[in-house]
Amino acid sequence: MTKKEIELFSCAVRAAENSYSPYSHFRVGAALLTESGQVFTGCNIENVSYSLTICAERTAIFKAVSEGFSAFTAIAVAGSSSDDFSKPCHPCGACLQVLSQFCGDDFMVILSDGAHTLKDFLPFVFSDDNLS
Ligand code: THU
Repeated sequence: MTKKEIELFSCAVRAAENSYSPYSHFRVGAALLTESGQVFTGCNIENVSYSLTICAERTAIFKAVSEGFSAFTAIAVAGSSSDDFSKPCHPCGACLQVLSQFCGDDFMVILSDGAHTLKDFLPFVFSDDNLS
């Protein structure tokens, strides 16, 4: 990983500190980098009505879009049920779909095991092309 990727991953680990996960006890943090260099972080926020839980990645992207940012270059994701974030936490399908709304194939997904592209995770995606 490059120094910048390691820094973004560290932001994701720090964001996991705010995770509200009383049901799974699995803390997730995400750090989303905008094209202009800002970082928006997010954590998972669970609910007693389980399906209302929101993932860390979507928290981060919704924060960013709601603040007027919609061009992104990378997201780092860190998840763990302990203080050890060395095992990769792969983004779920719902988060990948939401990311794909704003991010292209070359968008970087930084996990503990290194840098991947959005296309690595989502080679085929439901997009505007499917609607036309
Ligand atoms: N979770 C995320 O925050 N991001 C993902 O991509 C996968 C799962 C959260 C949701 C839930 O609070 C916990 O991890 C266990 O599934």
